[in-house]
Amino acid sequence: MHGRSYNTFTYQCLACTIEAMDFSHHPNARPGPLIVDAGSEHVAAIQQIYAHYVQNSICTMEEVAPTVAEMHRRHDALRREGLPWLVALDGTDVLGYAYAGRYRSRVGYAGTLETSIYLGNKHQGRGLGQALLRALIEACAQFGARQMVAVIVDDEGTVGSVRLHQRFGFQHAGLFCAVGSKFGRDVDTILMQRSLVAP
Ligand SMILES: CC(C)(COP(=O)(O)OP(=O)(O)OC[C@H]1O[C@@H](n2cnc3c(N)ncnc32)[C@H](O)[C@@H]1OP(=O)(O)O)[C@@H](O)C(=O)NCCC(=O)NCCS
Repeated sequence: MHGRSYNTFTYQCLACTIEAMDFSHHPNARPGPLIVDAGSEHVAAIQQIYAHYVQNSICTMEEVAPTVAEMHRRHDALRREGLPWLVALDGTDVLGYAYAGRYRSRVGYAGTLETSIYLGNKHQGRGLGQALLRALIEACAQFGARQMVAVIVDDEGTVGSVRLHQRFGFQHAGLFCAVGSKFGRDVDTILMQRSLVAP
């Protein structure tokens, strides 16, 4: 097993709305994915997951899917800095991933990290995003970050992302209007923020 293992989680039964992450008492629960640090062996699957959203949605503002080689470069760059890049695994299958990159490169922003989270298309809506974001927050705190931010395109397809971040304590911090453009339309971005510093 590569790197740290954050936890084992159990999928949430679709009919069940309980909030706890441990559903082992639930009759329909089944063993869930393992959340671990992403290794280079996961990068090809990560590229495939991401390429789908680049080509078919505005949840990312890239227009041309990065190659596997470019994805390796991004992964290596983050890991060299000790920043977290996690995958959710079912056996050896990558179901989704999340990472935290620098919010800005200038040194004064070093304590602030920005989330990215993408699930394989058919793994959405089953609580997997929660498992990944929970582990990512833990990893960012271990890294020593003080603040986490999420920059989310304002679109009906990203309602789940906003809701997911809210669930984990991210609060609306603003809205940038028409700062992006994709598929011939202007794109607004929602800014969300979560402190990792105890009040
Ligand atoms: C965004 C994403 C990571 C969320 O993960 P997920 O496992 O699908 O989400 P969950 O099942 O954990 O649901 C999170 C919450 O959002 C809600 N939600 C999910 N999709 C929703 C939708 N279309 N409309 C309204 N609420 C939605 C869920 O009900 C849940 O709310 P709750 O906390 O009140 O129960 C995942 O859907 C995804 O990869 N989406 C495509 C890529 C993307 O948009 N990435 C984010 C870029 S900023």
